[in-house]
Amino acid sequence: MWSRRLDLISVVVLLAVLATTALSGLLADYLGVPRSLYHRLSAYSLVLMALLHVWLRRRQLWRRIGAEVGRHQGPVSRPERVPNTPREQPHPATPSRRMLLISGVGAAAAFVLGRWWQPGKVPSELVGTDPGLSYHQRSKPDLWGIVQRPFQWGELPPLYKYYPSARRIRLPGESGYRGIPVEEAIRRRRSIRDYSGDPMTMEQLSLLLHSASGITEPAYPLRASPSAGALYPVETYPVVNSVTGLATGVYHYRPGDHSLELIREGDFRSDLLKYTGGQDMVLQASVVLVLTAVFQRTRWKYQERAYRYVLLDAGHLGENLYLAATSLGLGPCGIGAFFDDEMNRLVGVDGDEEAAVYLVSIGRLG
Ligand SMILES: Cc1cc2nc3c(=O)[nH]c(=O)nc-3n(C[C@H](O)[C@H](O)[C@H](O)COP(=O)(O)O)c2cc1C
Repeated sequence: MWSRRLDLISVVVLLAVLATTALSGLLADYLGVPRSLYHRLSAYSLVLMALLHVWLRRRQLWRRIGAEVGRHQGPVSRPERVPNTPREQPHPATPSRRMLLISGVGAAAAFVLGRWWQPGKVPSELVGTDPGLSYHQRSKPDLWGIVQRPFQWGELPPLYKYYPSARRIRLPGESGYRGIPVEEAIRRRRSIRDYSGDPMTMEQLSLLLHSASGITEPAYPLRASPSAGALYPVETYPVVNSVTGLATGVYHYRPGDHSLELIREGDFRSDLLKYTGGQDMVLQASVVLVLTAVFQRTRWKYQERAYRYVLLDAGHLGENLYLAATSLGLGPCGIGAFFDDEMNRLVGVDGDEEAAVYLVSIGRLG
């Protein structure tokens, strides 16, 4: 009796896990996430539940296989058919040949569809509804637009952001560290998603931040990454998981005096995991750098082209971080797939004036 109940429960759980695996797979596909902890866990659970299911039905399965083998051994060896007694009635859930055939064909079709089926090309009439394309077209310069356009869009906001009431942590200055040649860093650079989970040092964090947005030419001042019009719209918020001598929490980087401001203390690993759709490298990373953009800094001057420039600026910071991390023997990974509103809330920006545009996780190699 209990085994039948267990059997029924296993079927219900199996179906639930199947649905979760399908949904988490669709989510990972939709976000373009190469690895999702949620999908992996449901897939493992699915395998476990399928094994349990087969184990619970092992007797019927053996009986069925035995009967099939016997039937194919021909009339000589075929055992005499005895009418079923009530005890010998096949289990109602014994898989019939038709069921097995349908399951086999279904599994093969799902495999073929998943592996080779490509959804058709986007119909040309839909291309116009791609907001990226319509933005791209509408932000092209045209002569009449140039004549008509106002001199500037609004005011230039401050180029530096400060949190006056936040606790400030000075970062170590020039450490004399000299890494590998840039050609070597370019050759070695890879997106790394497996980290040891060990903490990085303050010196390493300091070098990373300086390589992305540190001031390298104090006279103007100009920074490590290029920026359209030297307007530097990108702010950096390190979410610290494990850096020696630094409390875990959300920080803000101040390029002006190369220091950090503590915005929120606490362990935000599970938030990072959720908001990146289960990309579990954020759990073992020493730090996840959330790059935001203050759009008005660039919009003021470049108007409708500003959004292009802001993202290009963020990309420059991202590559500098990749190369600096590689040179320091650390593993970087760019993350474009994240839930915007939640990530904005995590670092405390409103999502309109300032919004998260790119993340880079960095950790010690595993
Ligand atoms: C804009 C951008 C967004 C990316 N987003 C993700 C992401 O969300 N998750 C991830 O694992 N990798 C992400 N990557 C890393 C790419 O998958 C990776 O660069 C690509 O597979 C090439 O591998 P490589 O960087 O090792 O050469 C992103 C890279 C870029 C440039």
